[in-house]
Amino acid sequence: MGVDPARTERGGYGEALFEPWQPGEGERIDLGALAYDGTTRRRLLAAGAGPGVRCLEIGAGTGTVARWLAEEAGAAEVLAVDRDVRFLEPHAGGALRTLAADITAPDFDPGRFDLVHARFVLMHVPDHRRLAARLCGFLAPGGRLVLGDAVDLTSAGPPDTPYRLAMRAMWRALRETIGTDVTWTPQYPRLLAELGLTDVGAEITVPPLTRGSPIAEFWLDTWRRSRPAVLATGLVTPDQLIRAERALAEGTAADLSPGLITAWGRRG
Ligand SMILES: C[S@@+](CC[C@H](N)C(=O)[O-])C[C@H]1O[C@@H](n2cnc3c(N)ncnc32)[C@H](O)[C@@H]1O
Repeated sequence: MGVDPARTERGGYGEALFEPWQPGEGERIDLGALAYDGTTRRRLLAAGAGPGVRCLEIGAGTGTVARWLAEEAGAAEVLAVDRDVRFLEPHAGGALRTLAADITAPDFDPGRFDLVHARFVLMHVPDHRRLAARLCGFLAPGGRLVLGDAVDLTSAGPPDTPYRLAMRAMWRALRETIGTDVTWTPQYPRLLAELGLTDVGAEITVPPLTRGSPIAEFWLDTWRRSRPAVLATGLVTPDQLIRAERALAEGTAADLSPGLITAWGRRG
């Protein structure tokens, strides 16, 4: 269950794009968390998060969900796993343990849990179906799996506004550098049913792109940090990107943000 140090330094999730060793990356991830933590918490509570529950948080990032499970929901145990634990380690203690591991490694086996959660992780791995199946294997009998990923409802189609061109270029850049794929995420309920889970459900949250909102700031920051790769796609010009940024900053994009699809199911 080892971590390849070279990948952790440079080649893992987003390192080439987002350079987590540079200031501000933790804050960028936290903006995304701020936009979506309310939905995720509600869904985890509905899935049984609470006193006595053993939880596995996969790709925990800065740990906003893991910390909430341990400190506020009162879980008995929270294991927060990430290939890169630089943002997690300072929060370890009490019910919260951290583990540096590559979740796609064949020997990754953290044990069995009542609740397994991963958000914005499967969309970044090469074989999401296989990883979802492995996560099911980490469930104790009766345990719940809750998975969340981005869903893009608008940017692939017309009209070609600067905002949509910038979003399209960003998804292409993420695809070409990290391998990110969000085209399959609307299939989540079917995927979980095919994996043998019961009581399957799903919901989509699309936070409004209002001026100064965490989600607008998150996309602005994401475009800023990935600017060279976004422009290198050729799908947006520097001038269009500036106009897209202005629209987001001023709250005039008049469009939908990519949303969070959360899907869940229970092991029989
Ligand atoms: C977009 S961030 C999401 C963070 C957090 N789940 C959230 O929603 O705020 C993706 C996280 O998954 C981790 N990750 C991606 N691939 C991984 C892998 N193969 N093994 C372990 N962690 C991985 C990254 O290091 C990163 O912290």
